[in-house]
Amino acid sequence: MKVGRKGTALLDAPAAVGMTAAELAAYQKLLFAQTGIVLQDNKQALVEARVSLRLRALGMSSYREYLELLRQDRSGEELVQLIDAVSTNVTHFFREDEHFAFLGKVVERWTQAGKDRLRIWSAACSTGEEPYSIAMTLDAAIGRRRCDTKILATDISTRVLAEAQAGVYPEARLATVPDARRRACFRRVSADGQPMYEVNPDLRAMVMFRRLNFKAMPYPIRGAFDIIFCRNAMIYFDRPQRERMVGEFARLLKPGGFLLVGHAETLIGMSDRFRVIRPSIYERLKDGVRT
Ligand SMILES: C[S@@+](CC[C@H](N)C(=O)[O-])C[C@H]1O[C@@H](n2cnc3c(N)ncnc32)[C@H](O)[C@@H]1O
Repeated sequence: MKVGRKGTALLDAPAAVGMTAAELAAYQKLLFAQTGIVLQDNKQALVEARVSLRLRALGMSSYREYLELLRQDRSGEELVQLIDAVSTNVTHFFREDEHFAFLGKVVERWTQAGKDRLRIWSAACSTGEEPYSIAMTLDAAIGRRRCDTKILATDISTRVLAEAQAGVYPEARLATVPDARRRACFRRVSADGQPMYEVNPDLRAMVMFRRLNFKAMPYPIRGAFDIIFCRNAMIYFDRPQRERMVGEFARLLKPGGFLLVGHAETLIGMSDRFRVIRPSIYERLKDGVRT
C-alpha cells in the first residue's frame, strides 16, 4: 500500500464490501478494550460507512486489513481515527448553559469568601468550546479579585485536542457566545480570507490541554479539583466503566466540590460519595457521609 503525506491513497483501492458479523465483533472488542467505548450492534451501518472512508484514504480494501493496522498501531493515532469515526465530537460554546450559570454563581461566592485558588477539569473537552466557556465564565465571575485559576482540559482524540489548543473558530461556531463575551474574549483574525475568531491569550493561558483515555486508570492527574465537568462522554461506556470513572472523579475532587455531567446522564445509584444538587450537578461528599 502506498499512502500520500496526508494519509491519502496514491493508488485507488477497490471499495470494501460489507462488514461481516465477525469483523464487526472484532472492531467492537478492540474499541472496548482500548477505550471502554461500547459500540452497539445497530451501529454497523455507521461503522461500515465511516471506516470505509478511512480505508479509502489509506488505500486499503478490507476491514480485516485495517483491523490489523489498528492492532499494530503503537502510536494510538489510528485508534483516534477510529474513535472519531464512531463517536461524536459535537459540542458548542455554553452548551447546557445552566451549568455555566451555576459555575459563575459558585465561583463568585467562593472568591468573595476569600478563596484564591481554583482548579477545574474539563474531561472530554472535544474541540475546546467547553474549557473556553469555563474560562470566560471564571473571568467574569472572579472580576478583579485575585485568584490563581487553572483549567485542565483532556480528551482521548489528538485531533480535537489540536483544534482546541489552536483556539481559533469560524464565526458560525460562536453563535452561542453572547455579544459582550465575543467582544471581550475573542480577536477577529482572517484565515484564507475567512473571518475567524481567536480566543484571547489570557483566557488561553488559563487552559492546559492533555491527552487522557478514560479507560486507563488511575488517571495520571494530580488533584484535587474544585469542579469537574464530564459531560456527554459517559454515554459511550457501559455501567461498570461509568462507575469506575465516577470513582476516579470522587478521588480527584475536593469534598464540597462539584461534578457536572451531561443533561442526559446521571450518577443516581452509582456512588455514595456524591449528593445530587439538581439534575446533572453533584456535590462531592466528605468520605463516609451518605445521603
Ligand atoms: C460529545 S463530545 C463532549 C464534548 C463536551 N464535553 C460537551 O459536552 O460539549 C465527547 C468526547 O468524548 C471523547 N472520548 C470518547 N471516548 C473517550 C475516552 N475513552 N477517553 C477520553 N475521551 C473520550 C471524544 O473524543 C469526544 O471529544
